[in-house]
Amino acid sequence: MINNSLPSIIAIDGPAASGKSTLGRSLAERLGYLFFDTGVMYRAITWIALSLDMDLRDEAAVTKLAEEAQIDVRPPSKQDGRAFDVIAGNRDITWDTRAADVEGNVSVVSAYPGVRRALSAQQRRIGLRGSIVMVGRDIGTVVLPEADLKVYLDATAEERAKRRYNELIQRGEKADYEEVLKKVIERDRIDSTRAVAPLRPADDAMILDSDKMNAEEVLEHVLELCK
Ligand code: CDP
Repeated sequence: MINNSLPSIIAIDGPAASGKSTLGRSLAERLGYLFFDTGVMYRAITWIALSLDMDLRDEAAVTKLAEEAQIDVRPPSKQDGRAFDVIAGNRDITWDTRAADVEGNVSVVSAYPGVRRALSAQQRRIGLRGSIVMVGRDIGTVVLPEADLKVYLDATAEERAKRRYNELIQRGEKADYEEVLKKVIERDRIDSTRAVAPLRPADDAMILDSDKMNAEEVLEHVLELCK
């Protein structure tokens, strides 16, 4: 903590589409902190592997890719709803990382222990600098267990699928609610049953059920916790 006042390292974890990124982004903005969405790194590795036509079941090859890939997350260069730019090589892959085939495969990639080792070491190094809101699945449990404030943001699968569905429609994409729900449930199943760093609340996390709260209410609640 800085001067016993605001928490310096804030970890936000939770299942798919629970509103972690929305909360993380607005919280970081209000506190003047860096917002770091770790899911982007797993998504970027998945996108690169798919674009190279790699067999995602080839754990050794995917792990090597995660160890060697140059992924850059930079301040946003466009005002198209993005919170940051995701760059692989010289290519802007920000929106590619949100594509359906990435979403459908990312949990397989993120379950590989070597992939997690490579990415979480980078995340930890950045997180330890402080004045940061870091969002993911294992930030409070594995990446930054010393975080000053840990929030586990939850909501029912139906509510989360509704939010992700609306997000896709707003971006002008085609979406089917039942399909989105099925994918959200499947991703949670893989994320919470993997051997390494499974999705679960840290023992000292504040669990926040956001089913009946809008984004503004969630933000105000967490700002109260920060005090
Ligand atoms: O935004 P959404 O909650 O749908 O997903 P995300 O936070 O971008 O994470 C995408 C995927 O990356 C998750 O389903 C996990 O498989 C993986 N992930 C992880 O394993 N550990 C993290 N710290 C962050 C994401």
